[in-house]
Amino acid sequence: MARINENFLKLKAGYLFPEIARRVNAFTEANPEAAKRLIRCGIGDVTEPLPEACRQAMHEAIDELGSSATFKGYGPEQGYAFLREAIVENQYAGLGISPDEVFISDGSKCDTGNILDIFGPGNVIAITDPVYPVYVDTNVMVGNTGNADAAGAYAGLVYLPCTPENGFVPAIPEGHVDLVYLCYPNNPTGATATRAQLEAWVAYARREKAIILYDAAYEAFIQDPELPRSIFEIEGAHECAMEFRSFSKNGGFTGVRCAYTVIPKALKGSTADGGEQALHPLWSRRHSTKFNGASYPVQKGAAAVFSEAGKAQVAALIEGYMGNAKLLREAASAARLAVYGGVNAPYVWVACPAGLTSWDTFDKMLHEANVVITPGSGFGAAGEGYFRISAFNSRANVEEVCRRIREIFG
Ligand code: MLT
Repeated sequence: MARINENFLKLKAGYLFPEIARRVNAFTEANPEAAKRLIRCGIGDVTEPLPEACRQAMHEAIDELGSSATFKGYGPEQGYAFLREAIVENQYAGLGISPDEVFISDGSKCDTGNILDIFGPGNVIAITDPVYPVYVDTNVMVGNTGNADAAGAYAGLVYLPCTPENGFVPAIPEGHVDLVYLCYPNNPTGATATRAQLEAWVAYARREKAIILYDAAYEAFIQDPELPRSIFEIEGAHECAMEFRSFSKNGGFTGVRCAYTVIPKALKGSTADGGEQALHPLWSRRHSTKFNGASYPVQKGAAAVFSEAGKAQVAALIEGYMGNAKLLREAASAARLAVYGGVNAPYVWVACPAGLTSWDTFDKMLHEANVVITPGSGFGAAGEGYFRISAFNSRANVEEVCRRIREIFG
C-alpha cells in the first residue's frame, strides 16, 4: 500500500473557511426561510463586478487566441514581460526591483504555500497569532511542525502574539528565527505596520540572517500615505525579504486568479555546508518545473489594472469596500463592541461580547442575525475572543448587516 504524507494527519479539523461553509450549510438546510436573508461577511471574497478595463483586455486577449496570426500556446512560466514590467512601473517604481524579480502566478495563497518548496528542513519558523491559516497549515503539511496542542498551537512553530496592546504588530522575537511571515495590512486584524516597525523587523532579519515572507495582498487598501506599502520601501529589505501581492482584492480577481511574488536577486539562504545560495534561481526553477504560467487572457486582464481606466475603476472598487468597512466599524462601536482595523484594510476585527467565545459569536450572528462572520479563534489561539467582519460586500448588504448588528448587540 502506498504510504501517505502523515503530516496531513496533524492538521486540525478542516481548513477554516470550509469549516465555516459546513456550519452555514447545516444552518441553511435546517432553516430554509432564514437562509433566504443570509448575508455572507465571512471569507474575504470580493462581490463587485470585474473592472470594465480588465474585462475588455481579456476579451481582446481571447480574440487574439482565436486567430492563427496571434495565437499563443505555453507562455513564459514566470509570467509575460508586459505584466512584469507593468507591475514594476506601477507598484515598485524607485524601489530597486527589476521585472525579472517579479514572478506571476495564479494566487498568493498558492505562492505563500508553495514557497516552502525552496526551503529545507530544520528552519525555525515564526508566525503571528492570529494569522492567515495557510502559513501554518502549509508548514504542517511539509513536516516543519510537531503536533497541535488543545488550543491548536503546533509544536515547533514560534508564535508571535498580536494583541490590542501591541497594535497587532508583534514584538521582535528575543531569540533566533530563520523565517518569519508578516502580513500588512493584516489579515485578519486589519492592522497596519508603520515604517519604524518594519525597519525594526528588517534590522532583526539582517542581524539574524532571517528571511521575511511579506504578504502585502491588501496593500491597495492603505489610505494613510505615511504607511509603507511594500517591504522594499525599507532599506536593506532586498537582502532579507520577499513580497507576495495579488490582483484578487484590488482588481476583484478572486475567481479569475492572478498574483505575483517578488524575490530580489540579492536574497540568499544557506546550504548545509554553510555556503550561501540566492533564492531567485530556485523559485524560478520551481516555477518552470511545477507551473506553466497564469493564462494569457488573465495576465492581459491583470495588466489592465494599471491602465488609466483600470486605475480609476479599481480606485472606485476600493473606495466602495472601504466605505463599507467604515460603516461596519461604526455599527460595531455603536453596539459597544471594541473595534479594530477597517481603516487601512478591508477587515474589521471586533472583540466578542462579554462571555461569548469566537464560535459562540459566530453561531449567534448566524442564527439570530443570519450574518456569516469569521470566528477569530479560527486564525489562531490569540484570535479567541474576537471575530472578523469582511467589508467585501455590496453597500446594501453592509447597511443591512449594520442594522442587524445594532439589533442583536445594541
Ligand atoms: C480570507 O478571507 O482570509 C481570504 O479570503 C483568504 C484568501 O484570500 O485566501
